Amino acid sequence: MILVTGGAGFIGSHVADALLDLGHPVRILDSLLPAAHRGAAPHLDPRAEFMHGDVGDPDALQRALQGVIGISHQAAMVGLGSDFSDVADYVRQNDLATAVLLQTLAANRFSGRLVLASSMVVYGEGSYRCPRHGPLAAPPRAPADLAAQRFDPLCPDCGDPLDPTPVSESARLDPRNVYAATKVHQEHLCFAFARETGLPVTALRYHNVYGPRMPRDTPYAGVASIFRSELAAGRPPRVFEDGRQLRDFVHVRDVARANVAALTLDGPPTAPFNIASGRPRTVGEMASALAREAGARAPAPVTTGQYRLGDVRHVFASPARAAAELGFEATEDFSLGMREFARAPLRGTPEPA
Ligand code: UD1
Repeated sequence: MILVTGGAGFIGSHVADALLDLGHPVRILDSLLPAAHRGAAPHLDPRAEFMHGDVGDPDALQRALQGVIGISHQAAMVGLGSDFSDVADYVRQNDLATAVLLQTLAANRFSGRLVLASSMVVYGEGSYRCPRHGPLAAPPRAPADLAAQRFDPLCPDCGDPLDPTPVSESARLDPRNVYAATKVHQEHLCFAFARETGLPVTALRYHNVYGPRMPRDTPYAGVASIFRSELAAGRPPRVFEDGRQLRDFVHVRDVARANVAALTLDGPPTAPFNIASGRPRTVGEMASALAREAGARAPAPVTTGQYRLGDVRHVFASPARAAAELGFEATEDFSLGMREFARAPLRGTPEPA
């Protein structure tokens, strides 16, 4: 039996489907958080055993762990949120729930494997190279530069423009918001558990995931769902900055396959892995592709020059370690993926109060 925590959510439900399709019995533990769900989850595969409950509740967890040999831990509060009022919720749902999970696994003398849903947000800015000074970590962008529409980070030593390079797993971790801080902490807790128990723990650092069942636009959603929601409402996607910021948009079915690889590989490595397509795109390019696939009457994206202080400029992945050690390579085609995403319904979430 494989337990998928958060298995009713966007990524977790695809992980459950991928496991079921390969014949693995799956149990889902999901609290159906109101921020992510409107009541029941009709998209759930009836072959999965569903348990309504919170990972942070030791009793629910104890029941959910019966007979389990592998865990895909997807349950979390995601996204940037709206302000600092939800910091304690992030810590409870992400850090504390993971601590309860690890404590319960240790008490049960669990001997299987654990896969953690992590995120590229642990890196903060991506990696850069100064033509004169070589590789370096870019500091946060100055508000005055952003206000003057200077979006690309500059070399702190010579002020020259920097070349963005793919971020590798050994890059310095630099979490820049609450969600990112909880993802770093989850990783640290899980790797401490791996060291103490000798069990394999794999952290999958998802890049910008998109695809069917992505939740509708909420303060917790990423840019792909925001653009998709704009188009559904007949409005143009609003591309911030100059639209040339780079991300790696990876299809949710590829992300599910990466989870399956980490859960089923012989001798899974205890390590973090970038889970990405390996083909960076600009946010402007993604907006255009999505608008094109939304139909002839869909409005074209507009580039607004707006910016958000918390945003990083470029972050995209080196998928080399995942290919070498997990045998994972993304296979979903970007254009076809955008076509499917443009046409698949978004998952409804409650209207804001
Ligand atoms: C996002 C998520 C993060 C998740 C990660 C990987 C947020 C805030 N961040 O990080 O939680 O772990 O992907 O899946 O949810 N933009 C626009 N127009 C908009 C909204 C955003 O152009 O309407 C731009 C932003 O300025 C930014 C880029 O799109 O340059 C990406 O934004 P977003 O998806 O929100 O954040 P990421 O940093 O990529």
